[in-house]
Order: sequence, then structure tokens, then C-alpha cells
Amino acid sequence: MEGGSTPPWPYPNVASCQATPTVELGGAVEVGASEQPMEEKLSEASKRAAPSPIQQLSHLAQRVGAVNLAEGFPDFPAPAHVKAAAAAAIAADLNQYRHVQGVCDVLAATMKRDHGFDVDPLTDFAICCGQSEAFAAAVFAIIDPGDEVLLFDPAYETYQTCIELARGVPVYVPLDPPSWTLDADKFLKSFTSRTKAVVLNSPHNPTGKVFSKEELLIISQACQQMDCFAITDEVYEYITYDENKHISLASLPGMQQRTIITSSLSKTYSVTGWRIGWACAAANIATAIRNIHVKLTDSAPAPFQEAALIALTSTPDYYESLKKDYAERRDFILQLLKNYGFHISFKPQGSVFVFAELPKSWQISDIDFVTNLINNAGVAAVPGRGFFHTDADDQSYHHRYVRFAFCKSDETLKAAAQKMMKLVKSNEKVPHDTQSFCVSKKGRNEHVTK
Ligand SMILES: Cc1ncc(COP(=O)(O)O)c(C=O)c1O
Repeated sequence: MEGGSTPPWPYPNVASCQATPTVELGGAVEVGASEQPMEEKLSEASKRAAPSPIQQLSHLAQRVGAVNLAEGFPDFPAPAHVKAAAAAAIAADLNQYRHVQGVCDVLAATMKRDHGFDVDPLTDFAICCGQSEAFAAAVFAIIDPGDEVLLFDPAYETYQTCIELARGVPVYVPLDPPSWTLDADKFLKSFTSRTKAVVLNSPHNPTGKVFSKEELLIISQACQQMDCFAITDEVYEYITYDENKHISLASLPGMQQRTIITSSLSKTYSVTGWRIGWACAAANIATAIRNIHVKLTDSAPAPFQEAALIALTSTPDYYESLKKDYAERRDFILQLLKNYGFHISFKPQGSVFVFAELPKSWQISDIDFVTNLINNAGVAAVPGRGFFHTDADDQSYHHRYVRFAFCKSDETLKAAAQKMMKLVKSNEKVPHDTQSFCVSKKGRNEHVTK
């Protein structure tokens, strides 16, 4: 730099910063330096990913020490044989960047056993940091700016942000309550020449729906006719109830080469914090996903990949007792909600959530209901509106659902039941109309948030 001259980049001194200066760029073009805070320069996608009022409710729940039926992670121990494998891997100093090929070998055998299709363990997998990273890498691998991605509404929250980060356009197709049925007509009309992919999460968060064979056929035929990808999220694949069976979309004729399966250890083995997941796709697509995964995180946690080998080779009785235990938890919470005054019209078929509709006579929104449940019963759940995205003809139902997670220990579920029923008893003299279960004795319309 020449002594004493103006730097050739816009670098105002402190005094000029305070006075909203004019900065000379290279001495030729004058640009008004703005006092715009740096925060305003954040990307649009990051602004849309900011915590919602619903996450603020979760902070309220933490502050008051509410029993947590809000968040979808287990609060009971992971299986002992799986934890022992992780501890052994750390003790053996398997602590560096790592790809454990055995995980892909076991997953390939599992897919053959469960879904009947052949995948090549050497070429068709990317081991990622949970389903979350597998999904993000899959989206980044296939979505160009302006590509449309069909999602079913309501939907788990993270898909949209990933699609937007790739500059794709999420297009929501509403499922029809109360059973969250796929309306073929609405679905087919949502395709355009820009549709690149359909996202399918089954068993489904938040509704507990398991997509039927008929619905999967509609999706598979549309994907083939419109020549687009499917990305599946199958994290609840082993948690289904009654006669409901999880069918992987990739197992339907013509779908394997256009489907990217994503899943993880998180829910099946109660290890959401271990961050082990995978994407499985045809070799050339899996290679693209792996290339992106390497740039995002390089590799999934090494000791937990080793433990995954043990987890994924659990004996059949592990999966049977997983289902049985979850079915008991589901039935417990359904009974509790019934005692509380809910009329459950859709029993979860899979996953770990009840998406309960507020009774028609309770003239209260989902947010107010949850706020009051936290404040007065000391129990946290999630207002349903955060899962909805479409402008349905009749949107009123978007504010009428509350999600309860039952992936909780017996102690937690019993504590929640005790607290909720105590509130019911304290309100016994209040007619079971609008807000009888939602108010404190002190005031019928006390709301913390709006
Ligand atoms: C439908 C669904 N997909 C994915 C995830 C996250 O999975 P992972 O922990 O493997 O990233 C969750 C977690 O709640 C979920 O509900």
C-alpha cells in the first residue's frame, strides 16, 4: 500500500463509521456505506431456520421443569450390548476418521432380508451423521436451484430447510385428516415439469401414519411417469403397531434405481445422540451423496460406527421387544389422553407420536393448549401447527392438533399421567367444555404466549 493513500477496499475508520460516511472505492465509484447490522446479511434460508415460537415453548417447558412428552428422543437407556460395543471401540482407540465397511455389508444383508432387494455394499451406501445428514447430502446431490420437491403435509421439520439451502422449492401436498390419507388427485396435480423428487417419511412424524401399499403404488407410479427421484426417511422402520407393516418404497417395481433410502440407528436403538445414519441408492447416486458427505462432515463418529455393527446384527427378539414395548407405551398414552378428555380418531400405526386432535368443544388453539399444559399440569407437548405448511381450504385444523411423544420411560409416562390427571381432578367442578383442562384454578384465560 502506498503511504497515506486510501486503502483500495471499503474500510472506513471508526469516526467515519459513526457518521455514516461515503466510502470511495478505488477513487472512482462512491458507495454509501450502510450501518446495516451484519445480522441482516444472513442468508434467507438461515433466517427461515430460526427458532420458532414452538421451540420457545420448549424453553418454557425446561424452565418450569415440565415432564417432557415434546421431544422425539428416548429418555431410557440404550441396549447394553450396543453401549458395550461403543465403549470397547473407544477403549481400542478407534478414534480417527473412519469408514466401517462392515456397516454397509450388514445393511445390505438387512435390506435383502426385510425388503427383498439386492444392493451392493461396496458402492451403494454413504454412512453419514444420522438420517439428518444423509438427507441433506441426498438433497444437495440431486437438487438444482428451482427444482421442485414434493413433500406431504404435515411434515417433519428439517426437510424444508435442506431443500431451501439447495435453492430447491418445497411443494407441499396435504394429507387428509383424520387418517392422513393420500389424495391421489391432489398429489398428481402437484407435479410440474420442474418436479425433481418426492420425499416420503413412513412411518410418519408427526401423525404416526404408515403409508399403505396402495398409497405407495400411487407414489411409485407417479415418480416413474414423471421421471423423478424419491427420497425416503425410514427412521421408524422397526416401530410399527398392530397389523401395520413398513414397506420400503424402493421395493416396489421400478423404484430401486430412483429411490434414495435414508435411515439411522437413532430410533431403533435409542441412540439419537450417536449420529449414525445412512443413505442407500444406486451406485452412481450413492457416489454423488458420498462425495458431498465427505465435504460436509468427512465421516460419521468412528466408535459409534463400530457399535452400529453390533446394533444392526441384533437378534430378532430385540426387534420384537422393541415393538412390544412401544405398543404398550402407545396404549398407555392413548388411555391417558382419553381420560384427559381427548377423542382419538387416529391411533398411531407406527413411529413414537400421537397426533391428537383437540376435542371440538375445547375452543382453544394448539399453542394455548400446550402453554397451559406446561404451566398448569407441568407436562410438555408440541403444538401441531409447526408441522403444517400448506394453505388448506379449511386451515382451521392446522391449529387443532397437539403432538405427544411416547418414546419415554415408564417413570416419565407415569409422572405425566399423574400430573395431567391431577389437573383433571382439580377442574372436576368446571364443565367439560371449552378450557376445563387447560386452565389453572386461578384464572380461566391465563395464557403465557399468544
Ligand atoms: C421423521 C424423522 N426423521 C429423522 C429424524 C432424525 O434422525 P437422525 O437422528 O438419524 O438424524 C427424526 C428425529 O426426530 C425424525 O422424527
